[in-house]
This record gives sequence, C-alpha cells and structure tokens, in this order.
Amino acid sequence: MSSQVQTVYLNGEFLPIDQARVSVMDRGFLFGDGVYEVIPVYGGRPLRLDEHLERLDASLKGIGMVSPLNREQWQAIFEQLIAGPEDQSIYLQVTRGYAPKRDHAFPSVVQPTIFVMCNPIAAIPASGVAAITLDDTRWQFCNIKAVTLLANVLLKQEAVEHGAAEALLVRDGHVLEGSSSNVFVLLDGMLITPPKGHQLLPGITRDLVLELAARHGIPYVERHITLDELRSADEVWVTSSTREVLPVVTLDGVTVGTGVPGALWERMNALYQDYKIELRHAHAGGR
Ligand code: PDD
Repeated sequence: MSSQVQTVYLNGEFLPIDQARVSVMDRGFLFGDGVYEVIPVYGGRPLRLDEHLERLDASLKGIGMVSPLNREQWQAIFEQLIAGPEDQSIYLQVTRGYAPKRDHAFPSVVQPTIFVMCNPIAAIPASGVAAITLDDTRWQFCNIKAVTLLANVLLKQEAVEHGAAEALLVRDGHVLEGSSSNVFVLLDGMLITPPKGHQLLPGITRDLVLELAARHGIPYVERHITLDELRSADEVWVTSSTREVLPVVTLDGVTVGTGVPGALWERMNALYQDYKIELRHAHAGGR
C-alpha cells in the first residue's frame, strides 16, 4: 500500500488515521468493554463475510449488545476502506461507547463506538514456525471475540521472548487453541481440532479448513487433544484470518514430525490458496 495517510472509519466518518480520536471515557478504553472482528480480503473481496458478521453478532450478544449496523451498512464501510486488490484484512471494533462516569455496570444510555480500518496481510512463512505451550490464563468466555486481550497479549509476548510465533494454550491437560489462532494436529492419519465451546474462539479459518477437508476426503474429527497427543503429532498447524494455515515445525524446542511442513499441510495449504484464487475471481458477492 502507498505511503499516503491511511483512512479509517470512526462513528460515521472517514478520517485520516491520525485524526481519528476516541474519548478517554470510552468504555473500550477504560474497561476493554467491546468486541472485534478481523476479516481477510482477497482481490477486494472479504472472505466469509456473512460468517464473520454472524460471529460479530454472537460476540455482541455475549456482552449484552446488538450490532449497531446491518450487513449492507458494514459492507458499504468496508468497500470504502478496501485499498486495491492486495491481500489485506479488515479490523472492526465495536465498544459499548462513551459514558460520562466510570462505572463498571452498563450505563443506561449509550452510543456504541464503531471503528474500522484495513491493513495489509503479510505473506505467511511457508517454512513453518516455532510454538511453545503455556497454561491458558484466559477467562471463561473465549468464544467471545472481546477486545479485552491482556491474557492473550501476555501469552503471545512470552512466546515471542522464547523465539516462537505462537503460544498453544493448555487447560486441564487439553490444548485448546493458540493465543490468536486455532490449532490442528495430524495424528495417525486423522486431522484433529478441538470442538467449539466456551474455551475457544470459533475460528472462521478453522471452519473453512474443516470444510475443505470434508470436500476433499481428508479424514478429520473435532475432539479434545491432550498435551501428550500434541507432543506426538505428525503435524501441527495453527489457523487464523491473518496467518491462514501455518505449519508449526518445533514445539517447546522439539521437532514436530520431520521438522519441515508436512505433506498434509502442503495439500491443505494448496486447497486454501485455490479457495483464495476462486474468491479473487468470483463475481461480486461471491465468496
Ligand atoms: N485472531 N483464536 C483466537 C484466540 C484468535 O484471536 C483468532 C483470530 C483465532 C482464529 O480465528 P479466525 O480464523 O476467525 O481468524 C482463534 C485474530 C486474527 C486477531 O486477533 O488478530
């Protein structure tokens, strides 16, 4: 993208990013009281827009809010911000908004704060990445895509300080997901990912990977994964809207499988890249 100042959307206005301002009394700032979405865009087309907006609705419902905009209104904003055909991602955030007084309980009258920006997506490292395992220190509603991300931030930072790209989170002996991704393992020819529930974010990329597996006859199951299974897996992947399907080649400093991205990852990544190509060339509204 060019060196021009980035344009963002804030509460009904399109503004240069350095002029977008939110009150210090915004509940997003004071309490992390809000939710967000990250939607990848290929060839100017958002991937799985309906699914992302449905998840947004579910996150808002989880914090006692409803979407302040309908699908057409969101889409109109995205169209203004999507900059050219390059791979990019939409970041959108809705907070409970400004309240005149700091009080944990919801204010009686409130206008949500709506913020949207678009950023380039970096190419994924096809040679694979390192991950570490950490205890899951997050709250009990990980299915809500809340902006309250301090636990995730600290976990990711610990991974980075260990030279790793992701922290895989373990609770009660089960690996649930990454600090900002879902997790898959390949064990004895079976692709496994943990089931949806309160303990993990229902990833849109995760669902797409399962859909591609089903369509192409790759055996998979949604079930819990023990830490021992993770350690003995032939392949480990993490998935997210900005990192697609990313192979993990070392785990806690130990080689995963043969230490290079596995054959099933090669296949799934090719299917995923084909899906992106189809989206780029789809007619308007296609996804
Ligand atoms: N994070 N789990 C967590 C905790 C996440 O934060 C994310 C995505 C995912 C993957 O979800 P999806 O496939 O829908 O992107 C799973 C985004 C990218 C972020 O916080 O930037």
